[in-house]
Amino acid sequence: MHLIVSCSLNKNSKSKILANYASTLYNQEVKFLDLQTMELPFCDGDSCYDNPKVKELSNLVKESKSIIIASPIYMYDLNAAAKNFMELTGRAWTKKVVGFICAAGGKGSYMSVTSYMNSLMLDFRCIVVPRFVYTDRSGFDENYNIKSNIKERIEELVDQITLLSSKIDH
Ligand SMILES: Cc1cc2nc3c(=O)[nH]c(=O)nc-3n(C[C@H](O)[C@H](O)[C@H](O)COP(=O)(O)O)c2cc1C
Repeated sequence: MHLIVSCSLNKNSKSKILANYASTLYNQEVKFLDLQTMELPFCDGDSCYDNPKVKELSNLVKESKSIIIASPIYMYDLNAAAKNFMELTGRAWTKKVVGFICAAGGKGSYMSVTSYMNSLMLDFRCIVVPRFVYTDRSGFDENYNIKSNIKERIEELVDQITLLSSKIDH
């Protein structure tokens, strides 16, 4: 099973549109987690790990062959919900193949995903697909349809993440 986690809490989220498109591209089982629909605790490094929903999500992460994080860019980083998700599920990420889809307000924040990536690589020895998807409003037409160049980037990401994860011993 491959996992996509949509982290935006905005009901008009653009990263969620991109994540939804990604979910249509797998020829294997894919599970779509939408953090808008979940009541999760903030990570306190203590009792949050006893929360049944947190346990369920940790198991999902652990059982997944790959994970795509779809997130807004907030303050030159992924949003707090994405960070909280990683803090809550922690060790379950060990050695996972991970990809990123980001929606931003402008082009200048394209390196914002690096600190999240570094944490995954250094803390949990994840393998990060280097070709992540990043776009601002220009990646969509006036009806919020994804433009073809961004669709191609998402297709490439899903191809690479499924290929790479198939080579890893899970
Ligand atoms: C609190 C906040 C901080 C933001 N910080 C940035 C930023 O640092 N760089 C940027 O390019 N866009 C920034 N944006 C714009 C969002 O990335 C943009 O609206 C994006 O579409 C959000 O993703 P979503 O539509 O999936 O929720 C910020 C937006 C908010 C609300």
